[in-house]
This record gives sequence, structure tokens and C-alpha cells, in this order.
Amino acid sequence: MIKTRDTNQNIKWHNQIITKKRREVSLNQRPCILWFTGLSGSGKSTIANAVENKLFKRGIKTYLLDGDNIRHGLNKDLGFNKTDRIENIRRIGEVSKLFVDAGLIVLTAFISPFKLDRQIAKSLVNCDEFIEIFVNTPLEVCENRDSKGLYEKARNGDIKNFTGIDSPYESPNEPQIEIRTDKFDIQNCSDQIIDYLEKYSYI
Ligand code: PPS
Repeated sequence: MIKTRDTNQNIKWHNQIITKKRREVSLNQRPCILWFTGLSGSGKSTIANAVENKLFKRGIKTYLLDGDNIRHGLNKDLGFNKTDRIENIRRIGEVSKLFVDAGLIVLTAFISPFKLDRQIAKSLVNCDEFIEIFVNTPLEVCENRDSKGLYEKARNGDIKNFTGIDSPYESPNEPQIEIRTDKFDIQNCSDQIIDYLEKYSYI
């Protein structure tokens, strides 16, 4: 028999003995999500990696969820049409929430092109636990870099629904942090994020 959504009425939430607060105290750190958003080739993964490396060296417990990698496993059933991108980000929001519950600083590097999906991900955690980082690299710069050769394929019509070409990207209105990889190097960009985390006592 196929189970419908009504079945959820029969599922009850269990309170657990080890709470989020207890894990936070035990790890002695303030969990949050560093949500990187930006075009393909904008530098999300590179900066997220650099930031995670800096946090790791300080002994802070982190986990990096990266679009390309997650699409090899958890989300390998998803493509790039709008419905699949929404589901991609929904799952990442939920996984990030679990990692925050586990007491970690989570870094996510996904294009996450739609404002609403980012807002939904934010709504899953406390307001101050979600830090939106807009990797604001202009399309021309991303296209010139074309590190994976995908923009060329998209322009030739070999890839459909490519973000910035024939699929939209909705820029954040008020990101907590805006990064310009076309103006500053990786060291500087990652330091800007570390500075923010220090300023607001996340680390
Ligand atoms: S999304 O929009 O958030 O669901 O995308 P994401 O999971 O971050 O995956 C983006 C990476 O997939 C590659 N790729 C594409 N990107 C955009 N549009 C299309 N059609 C596409 N096809 C493949 C691309 O390498 C993206 O990696 P990044 O790191 O962003 O360059």
C-alpha cells in the first residue's frame, strides 16, 4: 500500500536526552550555517574551503557541504530544472539544520539561485544561526574563468538551464556578508568572513 502524507499524523516527535544546548556546551562552540550563494564559478567552493581550513586550524568543528560533491551522493537523483533545484536546496537546508543541531559550524556552497529557497533554509534554524554570504562575482568574470568549461557548453546549447545563461539567479537583497572575488584574493575574502565571525562572537 502506498503511504500518503496523512501517515505523518501518526508520527510523533521524540525529545532526546542529549539536547542541542548540551552538545554546544560540550563542544564549547556556537553552531551556525555559513550559506554561500553565487553563480557557477563565482568562487563559493574555493572560499568555503579556505574558511573551513582556517576554522579547522583553530580546532573548531565544521562540515562543508558542496554542491558538486553532494550531487554525487545524497542528491544524485536531482538535475537542474527548477523543481530539482528547489528539492536540492530543501534537502541541504534540512541537513544543515541537523549539523547545527549537532553543534557544528556548517558551510554550504550551492548556487541556491532562488531567494525563497534560501529563506526557507534560513527559517529552519534560529535567525542568528544563518549567515548568508553572497559571492558576488559578475557573470562576465565567471564566464571568463569558465574553469569547468560549462559556460561554453551552455552558450553552445549543449547544457540547458544553466544559471546566468538560460536559468535565473536571484541575488540576495541583504546578505550578512558580500564577497567580491574579482577585487580581492582568496586569502582576503576568507579573512573577511573570519573577521565577521569574530566580530559577532561566533568564534
Ligand atoms: S543549485 O542551483 O544550487 O541546485 O546548484 P548546485 O547544487 O550548487 O550545483 C551547481 C554545480 O553543478 C554544475 N552544473 C550546473 N550549474 C548550474 N546550472 C547547470 N545547468 C549546471 N549543470 C551542472 C556546476 O559545476 C555547478 O558548480 P559550481 O561550483 O557552482 O560552479
